[in-house]
Amino acid sequence: MNFPNFYVWALTFFPTLVPLAVFETIKQTQHWANEIHHKGGVIAFVPTMGALHLGHISLIEQAKMQSDAVISSIFVNPTQFNNASDLVKYPRTLDKDIAMLEEAGCHALFAPDVSEVYPKVQKGQWDFGPVNSRLEGHFRPGHFDGVCTVVKKLFEIVTPDKAFFGEKDFQQLAVIRKLVDYEGMKVEVIGCPTLREMGGLAMSSRNMRLNESERKEALAVSRVLFKMKEIKHHHTPKELEKQGRAELAEAKGLQLEYLEIVDGDTFEDINDWSVKRPVALFAGYCGGVRLIDNIML
Ligand code: PAJ
Repeated sequence: MNFPNFYVWALTFFPTLVPLAVFETIKQTQHWANEIHHKGGVIAFVPTMGALHLGHISLIEQAKMQSDAVISSIFVNPTQFNNASDLVKYPRTLDKDIAMLEEAGCHALFAPDVSEVYPKVQKGQWDFGPVNSRLEGHFRPGHFDGVCTVVKKLFEIVTPDKAFFGEKDFQQLAVIRKLVDYEGMKVEVIGCPTLREMGGLAMSSRNMRLNESERKEALAVSRVLFKMKEIKHHHTPKELEKQGRAELAEAKGLQLEYLEIVDGDTFEDINDWSVKRPVALFAGYCGGVRLIDNIML
């Protein structure tokens, strides 16, 4: 029996019964993608670094609704870490992740080793102006070049028709839209809303590293962001930014890195509320853990 053809047949008629296919090599992944495309199927892709939570699964759900076959990737990408100890400490929970993807009805997973993705050390460079030089670009130099390097490689391997990214990493989503545009890649980039825990904390793989009291202290981030949205109309962007920063400075256990209100398309500062997508972006530390969050205003 020709496995891929049977697989594509089963995927077409019984998509919920198809078990998760796990690939470690580029060749296997390309073969799978070719078979789906050959049969006219639409491939949706959800790239991740693993340590999956319901935020990631919400992207798989969106992907399932808008495609014929869903593939995710789990790859802790060394080129996007600008701090060696952060890379070492990044949680790795592959068996649990595979079980979650299977449960969510994801069809395939690309989970390569570093040597498969980077046979030699390579990192590209892109200049998208403020979109990749400000905020995360400023505080994590080289981070977005690492993200672009790996996302470009993954897109070339998986050849998705659609790719799903979370608004939790708002600036990353904007950078990837620029990358796809600049490189002329034929993939539709779809942004999905941030999933939050009950108290408002944005779900993140890094939350695993927060202890109980830090978890409570971290709630100040979403509390302040939500309040900023609520009182927006009584303030200019600059006043609102100042007030938000002052409240975060009061919050116990948090060290603010930045809180900025920018135009969500250009990442330029704004002086009034006339732009289409004003957004407040936060980064800071709770204990030793770096958190980011944002809210559309
Ligand atoms: P990772 O942090 O694992 O996130 C994978 C995807 O899940 C990203 O698109 C991210 O925005 C989304 N996500 C994370 N938390 C979310 C939440 N609470 N709600 C909704 N979506 C959420 O982002 C990366 O990996 C990497 O930089 C990657 C793009 C895979 C490149 O290495």
